[in-house]
Amino acid sequence: MVVLKNIKVDNNKNLSSELLVVGRFKNSNVEKSISFLSKEDKKNVLDAISIDLSDGDSGDYIMLAGSSSFKRIMLFNLGDKDKLTNDKMRAFGSNLYSLVNSKKIKKMVLDTKSFSMTTNDKTQSFLEGLVLGSYKFEDYKANKNKNNHLTDISIYGEIDKVIIKKAQTIGESVCFARDLGNHPANILTPTYLANESKRISKAKNMKCTVIDVSKFEKMGLGSFYGVARGAKEPAKMILVEYNGGKKSQKPIALVGKGLTFDTGGISLKPGARMDEMKFDMCGSATVMGVMNAVSILQPKVNIIFAIGASENMPGSDAQRPGDIVTAYNGKTIEVLNTDAEGRLVLADVLSYVNKNYNPEYMIDFATLTGAVLVALGHRASGLMGNDDKLINRIKKSSQATDEKVWELPLWPEYSKDIQGKYADIQNLGKAGAGTITAGAFLKEFVGDTPWCHLDIAGTAWGPKEPSYQPKVGATGVAVRLIYNLIEN
Ligand code: BES
Ligand code: MN
Ligand code: ZN
Repeated sequence: MVVLKNIKVDNNKNLSSELLVVGRFKNSNVEKSISFLSKEDKKNVLDAISIDLSDGDSGDYIMLAGSSSFKRIMLFNLGDKDKLTNDKMRAFGSNLYSLVNSKKIKKMVLDTKSFSMTTNDKTQSFLEGLVLGSYKFEDYKANKNKNNHLTDISIYGEIDKVIIKKAQTIGESVCFARDLGNHPANILTPTYLANESKRISKAKNMKCTVIDVSKFEKMGLGSFYGVARGAKEPAKMILVEYNGGKKSQKPIALVGKGLTFDTGGISLKPGARMDEMKFDMCGSATVMGVMNAVSILQPKVNIIFAIGASENMPGSDAQRPGDIVTAYNGKTIEVLNTDAEGRLVLADVLSYVNKNYNPEYMIDFATLTGAVLVALGHRASGLMGNDDKLINRIKKSSQATDEKVWELPLWPEYSKDIQGKYADIQNLGKAGAGTITAGAFLKEFVGDTPWCHLDIAGTAWGPKEPSYQPKVGATGVAVRLIYNLIEN
């Protein structure tokens, strides 16, 4: 849940509040940016700075009494002005939210000039940070909302309203993806994801189709069905078409792994930390976060959102190691390990989308391998693909949004490691490189269409930094990155 609900511009001369926040850079002349304050307030601010020992280093602040219109004035330290980056702005937004909220203040006024919100992306980053920093997941607590105070921010200064709406929507969409990740698997089922997709798709230019597991075999989704059949909870393939662009324009396809719980199946996972496998639908959460942002911001592009939603359970009808299944594109797969289920689900969703929607390019998001944690830890998502141009575009958006990705090679040699003994391919690599062989497996199902795969098993939950990441639970990874990509 996002606690910060309202961000609005208010340049009323009689603006008053229990708190005014002014940004303060190291060794900078604050006087210029506080020219709007009363004479008395100005003097108090300058006096406070003259005796302050923090020197403007970030992490510190000064609080002083205001005169008539503002009860309190806070000088919020921002450090070196020439070292300011978008990501620092995002972190400052989050830190400021936490600080002010901890003082039990409900509304604050923010002076933009002093924060150097000089470019649109700095402003957007800062506002995103405020929203992201206000995120709480308390749906299942008795004492909810007890520590949530700051809900309203008024912005004083020249600032583009379009940027506010964009930052707020993107921030909220990241938080929506976090919520989806954090709900437990007994609540958040494939049906839940389908219903949320239907709800979002009521927006302009959107249409949602949900295909139930009962249709999978007949439709030729044999690989997906193999995973779904072990579970009593019905699996769903969710397809949302968004038509914001010209009819002639090919759609972009965003595909998500939506394993609402991954026990491993018959190749059962060990018990320790198995609870974390409720996060195995975070790829679909990313797709739905972008879906939510797109439904509100209505960019002029065409998009296919596709989700393979299922549990991976060891039910009495579950598939067995050694089973051979036929994927939607006709390739046969030997299921050597039922715990390598994400690639089996994505194989069918990717080939279904590729054949039926003829996309310009496809990107999939998946908590696909534990191995990506060995390679990159919680710091970056693994990036692989068959098209350098698309890879470079993703890297560019990664830099623009500070959502780190790192490319791993998908050389043809790795495809040898998934050749099957009894079938065309097998769902297990033969010689290490677990993240890459999973990528090489997916590559078999995208044809000649430009495609990239983001392995988010290390980044979908777990990172504690930067400060706008939540202390526990899902991060909503790559929603910001992909929205940036769509926009450009
Ligand atoms: N969902 C898991 C990957 C995972 C594991 C994500 C741990 C985050 C933390 C995936 O379905 C899986 O089980 N992958 C196996 C593949 C192996 C059997 C080839 C893995 O990584 O161990
Ligand atoms: Mn698994
Ligand atoms: Zn999984």
